[in-house]
Formats: sequence, C-alpha cells, structure tokens
Amino acid sequence: MILSPDTRVAVVTGASSGIGEATARTLAKQGFHVVLGARRIDRLETTAAEIGGTALELDVTDEDSVDAFCTVLPRVDVLVNNAGGAMGLAPVSEADLDDWRWMWETNVLGTLRMTKALLPRLIESGDGLIVTVTSLAAFSVYDNGAGYTSAKHAEGLLHRTLRGELLGKPVRLTEIAPGAVETEFSLVRFKGDEERAKRVYEGMTPLVAQDVAEIIGFVASRPSHVNLDQIIVKPRDQANSERFHRTTD
Ligand SMILES: NC(=O)c1ccc[n+]([C@@H]2O[C@H](COP(=O)([O-])OP(=O)(O)OC[C@H]3O[C@@H](n4cnc5c(N)ncnc54)[C@H](OP(=O)(O)O)[C@@H]3O)[C@@H](O)[C@H]2O)c1
Repeated sequence: MILSPDTRVAVVTGASSGIGEATARTLAKQGFHVVLGARRIDRLETTAAEIGGTALELDVTDEDSVDAFCTVLPRVDVLVNNAGGAMGLAPVSEADLDDWRWMWETNVLGTLRMTKALLPRLIESGDGLIVTVTSLAAFSVYDNGAGYTSAKHAEGLLHRTLRGELLGKPVRLTEIAPGAVETEFSLVRFKGDEERAKRVYEGMTPLVAQDVAEIIGFVASRPSHVNLDQIIVKPRDQANSERFHRTTD
C-alpha cells in the first residue's frame, strides 16, 4: 500500500456490510484512505474499488489474521472498531455456549485485538481517533439478550477504560451506541431466518447504516482537541432496548 505521506488512513472493521460499509464510504468522501477489513473479501473489494480504498481480509477472532492485516498498514489515524453483532436470543437457562463464544470473541476480544495492535500507530500519528460501535446493549439489559448485552457491556468498558489510560496521549476515543439499525444484524442473530429478521423492524422506522456513518464522519471531522466521548442514537420510534412504537401494535 503506497500512499503519499500526508494521506490520512482510516481502518474500518466489519466493512463488508451495514454500518461498517457505510462508514467506509463516508470517511473516504472526507478524504481518508480507507482500509476495509472483514471476512467477506469479495464484498470489500467491490466497495474499495468504488471509493479508492484498500480491501484486506480480516477475522478479528483470529490472532494471525489480525497480525497479517495490521502489518501491511503504512500508518493509522482512525480505527473504527465496528465488527461485531449478536448470535441467538435465548434465556440464560438455555444459553448456547457457542453463541456466547462467538459474541465475546467478535465484539470483545476482536475489539481488544485490533485496538492493542494499532494503538502504537494511532499514537504515532499525532492525532489518532478510536471509534467503537457498541450498542444500547452496552448500557442496559433485556430478557434473552445476556450473551449480547454482556459482550457489549464488556466492549464498552474496554473502550471507556482507554479514555483514562490514554490521557495525555494524542488519541481521541468515541463510543457510538446505536439502537435499532436495519442492517444484516438481525439476519445474523437469527442465523439466516429472513422472516424473523424482518419482524424486528416491522411497523416502525429504524435507523439505517448511513445515519450512524454520518455521525462517525462528524466525530472524525472535529478539531483534534474535541473529544465526543459517547453518542447514543436511536430511532424516534424506540424508547429503549425493549420499547418501540409500532403501527402494527
Ligand atoms: N444493527 C443494529 O441494530 C445495531 C445496533 C447497535 C449496535 N450494532 C453494532 O454495530 C456493529 C455493526 O453491525 P451492523 O448492524 O452493521 O451489522 P452487519 O450488517 O451484520 O455487519 C457486521 C459486520 O461485522 C463483520 N464481522 C462479523 N464477524 C467478524 C469477524 N470475525 N471478523 C471481522 N469482521 C466480522 C461482518 O463481516 P463479515 O461477515 O464479512 O466478516 C460485517 O461486515 C456491530 O458491532 C453491532 O453489534 C448494531
């Protein structure tokens, strides 16, 4: 990857769909060279070609994959920890341990691996930014959601701890906590069950990925002394993790 020395680089994990893909497009428009990471390389390559970015295969649950991804980056100014999601919806008494492992590996340890690997280069940039996409689930609990809420709480705590540990270093930290966004999130949670995924957004107007991407773009374009610590964003039709206004009710 050969870039002119003054080109700022933004890394977006989970850029093959939803919020990550929209964020990659938004940051590219703002002048960043965007490096898109995810497992579905074909999708990344299509987007990268459209925005003049770089597509690199990345599995945030795999140490070797993270190492290989990070080694080729010439510099890093912005890291968007977005790769993640939910797997299953079950009471604790019926918890599927593999689903929990998936959620913890992807959301928590994935964010830890990427942040740890790129922190030296974010500091070196002299004006680094880490955006972590957590969720309303990082702030509350809901029935059948403990696997996801516990993972998002842990991811949020990891991110918020860094705010103190990095004080005095040139790195800003922003946590974005969205409510319902219509992406592939529910399709993944319900393991490909399209009907069930569709029902999550029935009778209400959810956020779309672009809504969140524009907020990340706003965060990344503030002057370097301005740190937006936490942003919670929900559809107007959503009061909290469990209460929605639906025309179908
Ligand atoms: N949609 C919502 O309602 C909502 C609300 C609050 C927070 N969030 C959070 O927002 C983030 C983005 O989700 P989304 O809504 O945009 O869902 P999405 O469309 O399912 O996108 C998830 C992205 O994560 C990537 N990913 C999953 N496992 C990965 C792994 N092991 N390594 C690398 N990338 C991986 C996926 O790419 P590959 O499958 O190609 O690897 C995909 O690009 C997630 O952290 C999610 O928890 C979503």
